Amino acid sequence: MMTITDQTELLDGREMPVFGFGCYNSYGDEITKAVATAIETGYRYIDSAARYGNEAEVGAALKQFAGKREDLFVLSKVWPTAYDAAEEAVVTSMKELGVEYLDAMLLHWPGTDEARRLRAYEVLLNLRERGLIRTVGVSNFQEDQIEVVRRQFGAYPAINEMEVHPGYQQNDLQDFCKERGIVRIAYSPIGRGRYQDNETIKSLSGKYGKTPSQVILRWHLQRGTVPIPKSGHAERIRENADVFDFSLTETEMEAMRGLECNGHMGLDPLTFNG
Ligand SMILES: NC(=O)c1ccc[n+]([C@@H]2O[C@H](COP(=O)([O-])OP(=O)(O)OC[C@H]3O[C@@H](n4cnc5c(N)ncnc54)[C@H](OP(=O)(O)O)[C@@H]3O)[C@@H](O)[C@H]2O)c1
Repeated sequence: MMTITDQTELLDGREMPVFGFGCYNSYGDEITKAVATAIETGYRYIDSAARYGNEAEVGAALKQFAGKREDLFVLSKVWPTAYDAAEEAVVTSMKELGVEYLDAMLLHWPGTDEARRLRAYEVLLNLRERGLIRTVGVSNFQEDQIEVVRRQFGAYPAINEMEVHPGYQQNDLQDFCKERGIVRIAYSPIGRGRYQDNETIKSLSGKYGKTPSQVILRWHLQRGTVPIPKSGHAERIRENADVFDFSLTETEMEAMRGLECNGHMGLDPLTFNG
């Protein structure tokens, strides 16, 4: 049985937690308190991004952590419109978050300008050499865009963060990343609350005495994706983390697989430029 502090291996030889806390769409005291509650609950990976516009408030919670810095995994992302000034973007995120290094930095979206994307990726690799970033990864990248990175730099990105929830499983992209050892982070992992009334999930919920969100988060863990649920409410932050004391059977995992319906909620990675 896993625990919230378990780690998964990264291609660059490092490790990251198997479970994280999302910081999107929450501001001011709410996000500071939410991140502090998450850390107190046992979450060790904090999923931040410059684009969320709240890194200083997230940083205020990180400062309250009484443990060792190396026990936290702080991830941020560079937004495509900052790709031509990627170093400045990284330094700004570090400053706002109040950290001396980032455990991981991702390119937030591929964007349609391949040359610009690769230049930004190279900047992140250089910053890794200089010790400002520990792990370099991507988000919302498709198979061919990931292959271009490998051809250009000789190694796959260690992480691909992508939209994954029961109605949008991205199974081909998942398999592609898994076969290459790329850690798959699932964003919008509970589909922003849209599965509360799903019959398959509700029946598993009844069987295990767990909420629909807990069933979905457990499903992520068993498929090997790293879920990063966000909540601004302390009780939900704790609820979402309470998923390490039950397991879905193989038949139940299959039933969850049957919920795939191309239910994409987010932006289109092939056209979105930031
Ligand atoms: N890389 C990317 O492009 C990208 C894109 C989107 C998101 N992300 C990351 O992924 C994280 C999570 O994704 P997300 O915020 O889009 O969606 P999510 O985590 O699937 O869902 C968050 C929503 O669900 C509600 N919620 C949380 N726990 C709940 C529970 N136990 N029961 C019922 N409702 C619950 C929250 O409301 P309350 O806050 O009111 O509790 C919030 O409205 C983000 O915060 C961000 O870090 C990354």
